[in-house]
Amino acid sequence: MIKVLYSDDGVVMIRPVTQADAEAHIAGQDEEYVTWLEPSDGTEETERRRFAEAEKAWEAGGPIFEFAIIAEGELAGTITAEVGREGLQPHQADITYGLYPNTRGRGIATRAVMLVVSFLDQIPGISEAVTRVSPENPKSRSVAERAGFEPMTTDAALADEHDWLSTKVSLVPAEQL
Ligand SMILES: CC(C)(COP(=O)(O)OP(=O)(O)OC[C@H]1O[C@@H](n2cnc3c(N)ncnc32)[C@H](O)[C@@H]1OP(=O)(O)O)[C@@H](O)C(=O)NCCC(=O)NCCS
Repeated sequence: MIKVLYSDDGVVMIRPVTQADAEAHIAGQDEEYVTWLEPSDGTEETERRRFAEAEKAWEAGGPIFEFAIIAEGELAGTITAEVGREGLQPHQADITYGLYPNTRGRGIATRAVMLVVSFLDQIPGISEAVTRVSPENPKSRSVAERAGFEPMTTDAALADEHDWLSTKVSLVPAEQL
């Protein structure tokens, strides 16, 4: 049971996305966002559908938890935690994030990542947050490093073309969850 949906560190707030966020998202996203973040083409139709699906996923209790990142009262980007992803272990959650161009360069993504890691502590069985970044996207890696993630050296991580970084979300060892 997810109890805490909203997190706020005084500068950045994260809350579940809703369909109503789609318009601001479409207006905010740029080519960089679409290139690195979206598995889709970033078209308006695709994004509206994706936000509707994200809202349904919250109602269903996962496995995708997509948050709106709010800074100064405005939608600044999105951050998603997904559990049960192919290629990851059952105790690992995958994190992806993106900011709109006018909100970059202020530490907002780093704060959002830290808030999502705290959120994950309440998801049963999840003890590790993982982010897989392209070596061609050093800004993305820097966010993870600033948020305290460290490079992974598991076989799966070493075999992949992306750089994998992770951090613990719980003090309880995975085998005890
Ligand atoms: C990846 C991405 C989110 C990084 O955004 P970002 O603004 O660089 O990251 P942060 O919000 O953590 O901000 C850090 C930057 O703000 C600066 N900054 C300013 N004030 C700061 C503060 N109070 N605290 C921390 N950093 C601060 C940092 O120095 C850093 O800038 P630098 O890289 O020039 O040194 C952004 O480039 C993006 O949305 N890209 C497109 C989507 C994408 O690539 N997603 C990654 C796939 S998982």
